[in-house]
Amino acid sequence: MWGGATAANQYEGGYDEGGRGLSTQDVRTAGSRTRKRTVTYLDGEGNLKEATRFEPMGPGAKGIIVPGRYYPGHQAVDFYHHYKEDIALFAEMGFRCFRMSVSWTRLFPKGTETEVNEDGIRFYTAVFEELKKYNIEPLVTLNHFDLPLYLANERNGWCDRETADLFTRFAETCFVRFRGLVRYWITFNEINCMLDWNKLGIRTDDPQEFHQALYHVFLASAQSVICGHRIDSGNMIGMMAAYGAMYPLDCDPDTYFNHLQCMHNMQWYCDVQCRGAYPAYKQKELERNGIVIRKQEGDEKILKDGTVDFIGFSYYFSVVSRAGVNVSMTGDQSHAVDNPYLKKNEWGWQIDPVGLRSVLNELYDRYQLPLWIVENGYGSIDTPEYDSEGNITAIHDPYRIAYLKAHIAEMKKAVELDGVDLIGYTPWGCIDLISAGTGEMKKRYGFIYVDMDDEGKGSLKRYRKDSFAWYQKVIASNGEEL
Ligand code: BG6
Repeated sequence: MWGGATAANQYEGGYDEGGRGLSTQDVRTAGSRTRKRTVTYLDGEGNLKEATRFEPMGPGAKGIIVPGRYYPGHQAVDFYHHYKEDIALFAEMGFRCFRMSVSWTRLFPKGTETEVNEDGIRFYTAVFEELKKYNIEPLVTLNHFDLPLYLANERNGWCDRETADLFTRFAETCFVRFRGLVRYWITFNEINCMLDWNKLGIRTDDPQEFHQALYHVFLASAQSVICGHRIDSGNMIGMMAAYGAMYPLDCDPDTYFNHLQCMHNMQWYCDVQCRGAYPAYKQKELERNGIVIRKQEGDEKILKDGTVDFIGFSYYFSVVSRAGVNVSMTGDQSHAVDNPYLKKNEWGWQIDPVGLRSVLNELYDRYQLPLWIVENGYGSIDTPEYDSEGNITAIHDPYRIAYLKAHIAEMKKAVELDGVDLIGYTPWGCIDLISAGTGEMKKRYGFIYVDMDDEGKGSLKRYRKDSFAWYQKVIASNGEEL
C-alpha cells in the first residue's frame, strides 16, 4: 500500500476549535537546528520556566501557554480546514493509504471525560469519509506523542496506571465510532522514544518511575489491541518503533557486545509488543538496577493477548556504535559516531538506503510479522521559484527524489530477493508539516509544498513539488518506474 504519513500535532492545527482540549504538544515552542524546542511550564513554586525534551522538569511542573509566544503546533499547516483539498492532492498522487493520527484531546479534551466530544467525532468522520471517496485506506495512529495536558498537569501522566485505562477508553471509542471507516491502526508512535517527547507526561528522570510509566504504555497498547480485535476482528493493529540500522564501529569484541546491547535497547520494545512479554535480557537489566515494576494480577495475560498484527517502523538513518557509548534512534544525532561510507543531510542524519534492506530483513527474521514502513523521508530546505509577481511557479527537489528512489530500490530487493512481507510504505510528511524535533517549517519532507515559514507566516497555499509527479509515477507502476 503506497501512501504518505502525518501526525495531528504537526499537521492538523485547529488546537482550540471544535471543543478540543490542550495537549502536552501545545506547550512546545519553536526551535531550530541549533536551538532546541522547549516546553513552557510553571514549576512547583509557580515560576515560569522552559525545558528541552532532554531536561527534567521536576515535580509539580505544569505546562502552560505563554501569551505572545509562538507554538507551531497550534496552527500547524491547518489540515483542520484544508483536509478536502489535501486529500484530493493525495488522491491525485494515487495514494492507496494515508497515515494520520487522531488527537486524543479532540475526542476527550481532558482525557478523563466519560462522554466523547461529538465535534471531534464529526471532524474525523468527515476526514475518513473523504478518504473513502477516493478509495484511500486510513492508517490511524492512536497516539503520536500527545497526552491531554490535564492528565500531565493535574494527574501524574503516564506514571499513573489510570492513564492506561483512560487511553484504552479513547481507543475503544475510536474503534467503535470509526468502525467500517478505518481498518488499519497503530497504537503508539515510536514507542521507543515517545516518553522522551513527553517529558511533561512523566516529569521525572527517576529510572524506576520511567519504567513504571513505560509499563503503563505497554499495558495501554495491549489493552487497546485486545479491545480493537473484540470490536472488529477485521481490524489490523500494529506497533510502531523508530528503527534504524546499527553498525558496530569495528571488530573489537567489546564494541560488538555493546552493539548487541544497543540493538536490545531498540528491540525490546518490539519484543514486548510482538511476543507479549518482557524479554529475559530486559528483566535482568531491571533487576540489576533495582527496578521493580508494580503489576496487577492478570497483567501478564493482557500483554500476551494484546500482541500486534504487524510492525510499523520509521526509518530515516543509520548509526554506528562503539564500546562504552549508548547510541539510539532519537532525532538528535549530535553525539553520533560518523560513518565514513555515508553522507549526511543538513540535520546530521546519515543517509543509508542499504540499511533499510538490512532492517527489513532483521525485523522479519526476528518476528515473522508483516512489516510496514510508516515513515521514511528526506527533511530538507526547499527553494521555490517565483514569477515576477511573487507567485510560486515550481519547487525542484531532486535530492528528495534521489533519497526516496534509493530507499524504494532497496525495499524492492527486500521483498523480491529476500522474501520480506512488506505491506505498506507511507513516507513521512507527504505534505510539508512542522518538524517534531526542531519545530521548524523549513525542514520539509513533502511532495506538496506548504507556503508557511518558521514563524507560522504564509498563505498556507499548497503547491506540487517535482517529487509529486515522480511519486505519482512510482505508485502507478507499483514501484517499477523509479
Ligand atoms: C519521527 C516522528 O521521529 O520522525 C515524526 O514520528 C517526526 O513525528 C519524524 O516528524 C521526523 O523528525 P523531524 O524532527 O525531522 O520532524
